[in-house]
Amino acid sequence: MKIRPRNAVLKRLAKRCMPASLLALRSHLLTRSMDRAFAQLGNPEAFGKIYRDGVWGGAEDGFCSGLGSHDRITVERYVQAVCSFLARTERKLDVVDLGCGDFSVGSRIRNSCGLYVACDVVPALIRRNELKYAELDVRFTCLDATRDALPAGEVCFVRQVLQHLSNAQIAAIVPRLCGFRHLIVTEHVPRGVFRANLDKRTGPTTRITQFRPSGVVLSQPPFNLRARESETLLRVDDELGGEIVTTYYFEPCLERLAEPAE
Ligand SMILES: C[S@@+](CC[C@H](N)C(=O)[O-])C[C@H]1O[C@@H](n2cnc3c(N)ncnc32)[C@H](O)[C@@H]1O
Repeated sequence: MKIRPRNAVLKRLAKRCMPASLLALRSHLLTRSMDRAFAQLGNPEAFGKIYRDGVWGGAEDGFCSGLGSHDRITVERYVQAVCSFLARTERKLDVVDLGCGDFSVGSRIRNSCGLYVACDVVPALIRRNELKYAELDVRFTCLDATRDALPAGEVCFVRQVLQHLSNAQIAAIVPRLCGFRHLIVTEHVPRGVFRANLDKRTGPTTRITQFRPSGVVLSQPPFNLRARESETLLRVDDELGGEIVTTYYFEPCLERLAEPAE
């Protein structure tokens, strides 16, 4: 007999009774079907639809970049870590914020920076940010980081952006990140040991909810990002067994393949 839970309480009860492997399969199937709905769309359309449909949460004006951008503790700890990094230099550095989203995080860092260029692939979001944050002296720019030239800057923030992209799209972005002296990347990854960079379709989900949970690690294949120095600035646990990791790369570059022997 099929059980069709009719309300949230029954649904929760049914979920609690499921063995872990069934839960993992369920979340994997949900993840796949969510991303499939966005698979045929280009980046501006896909992420525009995510905001229009409120997939990452509702907001009064219809633009919400999700829990990672609004959870009080997660955001406070990130702002603190990044601002103390920025305070290491005497002069305020010029910043490019790639995939700035609804800018609730960026708006809290802005005053610790020199020039601030905030970019996103969704035109309506950029127009909204220009109005909402008009006082902050930020240059909002609409661009697709997988194909457009990036603005110049000394520091680049890429916060919880790559986790939503396919490996092919990440691979298109990584060489462009090597033009910055300082790179700060934040990714939602499983806690503990996991196989990095298992592929996914571009869409609203992350690699965490796949059947084999994974996460983006730029220093691992197939991306192989290298840097003169790198440092973990921050780890914040979430309630789902994952963590949000912020990594700093000084003078990032691509791994050079060894020259073939003569
Ligand atoms: C989860 S939100 C994170 C927003 C913000 N960085 C934060 O931490 O609050 C991811 C953002 O990346 C943007 N994005 C995704 N792919 C992009 C691309 N190829 N170029 C520029 N922005 C992109 C999305 O539109 C979305 O606003």
